[in-house]
Amino acid sequence: MGNKILIIGACGQIGTELTLTLREKFGNENVVASDIREGNEQLMQTGPFEILDATNYKAIEDIVMHYEIDEVYLMAAMLSATAEKFPMRGWELNMNSLFNVLNLAKDKKISKLFWPSSIAVFGPTTPKLNTPQTTVMEPTTVYGISKQTGERWCEYYHEKYGVDVRSIRYPGLISYKTAPGGGTTDYAVEIFHEALNKQSYTSFLSEDTALPMMFMDDAIEATIRLMDADKESLSIKSSYNLGGISFTPKEIAESIKKHIPNFKIDYAPDFRQAIADSWPSSIDDSQAQKDWGWKHQFDLGKMTKAMLEGLRNL
Ligand SMILES: NC(=O)c1ccc[n+]([C@@H]2O[C@H](COP(=O)([O-])OP(=O)(O)OC[C@H]3O[C@@H](n4cnc5c(N)ncnc54)[C@H](O)[C@@H]3O)[C@@H](O)[C@H]2O)c1
Repeated sequence: MGNKILIIGACGQIGTELTLTLREKFGNENVVASDIREGNEQLMQTGPFEILDATNYKAIEDIVMHYEIDEVYLMAAMLSATAEKFPMRGWELNMNSLFNVLNLAKDKKISKLFWPSSIAVFGPTTPKLNTPQTTVMEPTTVYGISKQTGERWCEYYHEKYGVDVRSIRYPGLISYKTAPGGGTTDYAVEIFHEALNKQSYTSFLSEDTALPMMFMDDAIEATIRLMDADKESLSIKSSYNLGGISFTPKEIAESIKKHIPNFKIDYAPDFRQAIADSWPSSIDDSQAQKDWGWKHQFDLGKMTKAMLEGLRNL
């Protein structure tokens, strides 16, 4: 008996690659993708797909029953930059979707749940360098407030109802297969597209804004490794810090110049600068290393090479 998995929000930046990797691992028929819109061709053609609204409890329950699902990955959310424009919609989507899947697990309709948190749970009063797992958390964005609240509810459902919910505070994720969905770290993906198309890029963050980042392959590996870990080894019931690499727009531009020597960058910070300024620059993930053997593989140089090669071969 293999796992039967449902991914909600499967057509987004993380969901697409996560779905394809899980289909390889568990078999195409055992991984049901769902979203409020259709995804890319590969996602749609490799296994079951359902149109599903993450805020509709009954619709999720029907699909869980129909496919006899036992694990859910909830990837639907409104991300940081977009949620600043639509605060109430962001709050409602991020919280209602989480309650729906937590309640399914509480009622024993599924046995395990993955829900992503973010470095956005931290705020301007958090120590910026090597941010610890447990520290001051006073997020100042709608998105960060929703993720921090979500973490508290995950821990609550774990303690009160024995729900097996696992979570990672993803840093900014960098990928070439699927476009990012409205976050503050999107610049680090756009820069590669424009480096190849126009040999120049105008960054919406200032040159010295250091943020924690991670190549998508590492993020998918971390997610699957956490879900595979023995429950007893997991000491964090809210969400694990996950550090990858930390770099500034200037540093990523230098890394790209090693491959595209005439690449030019300039800077025109917009409203996203204030969001970035409230977040950590680097993350201490020693608890993830200790509990489930986490170690990232991609540094800035290796990621730059993988991004440029990946985009050229698309
Ligand atoms: N990408 C990052 O850098 C990053 C960093 C930290 C945390 N996260 C978290 O990871 C998760 C996935 O992020 P992502 O980057 O893939 O986001 P994304 O915006 O690329 O994808 C989200 C998907 O959810 C779908 N969706 C939106 N509303 C929905 C609804 N009501 N019902 C069903 N689906 C709906 C969208 O159509 C989209 O395909 C989110 O919880 C996000 O907060 C992402």
